[in-house]
Amino acid sequence: MDILKVVNIEQKYQAENGEITALKEISFTVKKGEFISIVGPSGCGKSTLLSIISGILKPTNGEVYVSGERVDGITSHIGYMLQKDNLLDWRTIYKNVLLGLEIRNTKTQENMERAENLLKTYGLYEFRDKYPSQLSGGMRQRVALIRTLAISPDILLLDEAFSALDYQTRLSVTDDVFRILKQEQVTTLMVTHDIPESISMGDKIMILSERPAVIKEILEIDFEMETRTPLTCRKSPKFSQYFNHIWRELSGNE
Ligand SMILES: Nc1ncnc2c1ncn2[C@@H]1O[C@H](COP(=O)(O)OP(=O)(O)OP(=O)(O)O)[C@@H](O)[C@H]1O
Ligand SMILES: [Mg+2]
Repeated sequence: MDILKVVNIEQKYQAENGEITALKEISFTVKKGEFISIVGPSGCGKSTLLSIISGILKPTNGEVYVSGERVDGITSHIGYMLQKDNLLDWRTIYKNVLLGLEIRNTKTQENMERAENLLKTYGLYEFRDKYPSQLSGGMRQRVALIRTLAISPDILLLDEAFSALDYQTRLSVTDDVFRILKQEQVTTLMVTHDIPESISMGDKIMILSERPAVIKEILEIDFEMETRTPLTCRKSPKFSQYFNHIWRELSGNE
């Protein structure tokens, strides 16, 4: 079943020197549990696309459907995570994790237990009374993910969510996050500038053109491995084939 359906999205912005078109004729569907990586040149419209899917931004034209229901404004079906983890320094880890539920007024016993279980499953329960400043960058990112997952979103949107981390931490955090998302069967759209990262996590890679962004290609990734993880698939001979293909597409060979 298609959990997400994007139909003919177009986005125009009014800028000082006239109108600019950020997105044009963007249509695609995503199946439940799929992980879609999105790559494209700087400023082509990737964040705009995620903002539209999240319901924060109303597109100039086109529609977005989640599980068949039209998105019109912010919904709790969608979790959105950005580069900055946005943890509140004066709240404990546990209170940070509950924040999304408080904002949505869904802090029920059941949801609080779900949040606690996520903390337990993903190794953060013993840190629940600590403050964000007492945690490493990688752990903070995991807390931010759990906070987003605590609202039980059907779809998770990640916009360069790992780019503030150092390289080593980034590799292990993406491995962690991948495992969590597959286990929780969360459908994910991830924008990244890092081609290896896009390949290592994605079931499909959406390659966008220069602005106004159109979809150049949706590339299917299949490593034919039994237990694929972001780290193990980097060793596959197919990895560099995918890399070269995406690199060529992005460097603009029409
Ligand atoms: N609110 C706005 N008003 C006017 N122009 C905007 C607005 N938001 C974005 N833009 C422009 O639209 C284009 C697409 O922006 P967007 O942030 O979606 O690109 P991006 O692909 O996410 O870029 P980056 O790779 O730098 O993150 C850019 O040229 C940007 O300057
Ligand atoms: Mg962006």
